[in-house]
Amino acid sequence: MAENEFVNKVAMVTGGSRGIGAAIALRFAASGAEVFINHRKAAGSSRAKGEELQERVARMGGRLTPFAADISSRPAVKEMMAAIGRDAGRLDFLILNAARAPFKPIERLLERELRDLIEVNYMGNIFCVQEALPLLEKCAGKIVFISSLGSRFYNPAYPLGSMKAAMEAVVRDLAESLRPRGVSVNAVSGGIVKTDSYKVLRQHMENLDQLPDHFIVEAEEIADVAAFLCSSAARGICGQTIVCDRGMSNALQRF
Ligand SMILES: NC(=O)c1ccc[n+]([C@@H]2O[C@H](COP(=O)([O-])OP(=O)(O)OC[C@H]3O[C@@H](n4cnc5c(N)ncnc54)[C@H](OP(=O)(O)O)[C@@H]3O)[C@@H](O)[C@H]2O)c1
Repeated sequence: MAENEFVNKVAMVTGGSRGIGAAIALRFAASGAEVFINHRKAAGSSRAKGEELQERVARMGGRLTPFAADISSRPAVKEMMAAIGRDAGRLDFLILNAARAPFKPIERLLERELRDLIEVNYMGNIFCVQEALPLLEKCAGKIVFISSLGSRFYNPAYPLGSMKAAMEAVVRDLAESLRPRGVSVNAVSGGIVKTDSYKVLRQHMENLDQLPDHFIVEAEEIADVAAFLCSSAARGICGQTIVCDRGMSNALQRF
């Protein structure tokens, strides 16, 4: 990828205030893109982290704008995409990174948790695609969904995995249905990354602390794959989910 590949391009990274989303936002900003991010909570540490990232990108000579917008609310997503249209006038890359789910077995989910699981992690992502589409199709835009190995492997306390599996199917379907509109769609499936959600996951996943360090993925490694999928070098990739797990899933096959 050329160093300044994303100059004059605009990226939106959902859930970009912290963790993997923040690494993706920084990666796109470093390549020259103007970046928009959102987080769910309007105040507190989410907002502070969004503002910190905004200052960091400004120091790099770039521009990042944070929004507080819950992706499970269609009006909030509509307003956010409208603001990007007014402000930047285009959207080249939509990175669907935001996710939120309880760590517990599916059979123990309360009704409100089940609704929230679907409304954030399935409907919320589709609201983002639908509301961003008028901007994306004007500039042969690219959509990258951030998935996880939970789409393919059993974890006793990870209902989010079923939503990731659904979204990987959505990625395949959208890649075909949006192809005539010039919009490409792919996904990155990440292995284990030490973010805030990892701290909760380790309370529910036996032996996670015994995972050898060489299987721990850096958020920047996921960001690099997302950036690659948005680059011209990835023009031949369509509707695919690229696994970025340092080979951890290969090791699982040995048991
Ligand atoms: N960590 C891992 O090991 C791992 C591995 C593979 C894939 N992934 C995937 O990578 C993505 C990021 O993971 P992470 O560990 O970096 O997550 P994280 O640290 O929990 O951060 C999640 C981000 O999403 C935002 N968010 C959550 N619900 C939202 C909603 N309804 N509307 C808008 N924003 C919302 C959060 O905003 P607030 O700050 O306001 O809550 C935050 O910015 C997720 O899709 C996750 O499934 C993670």
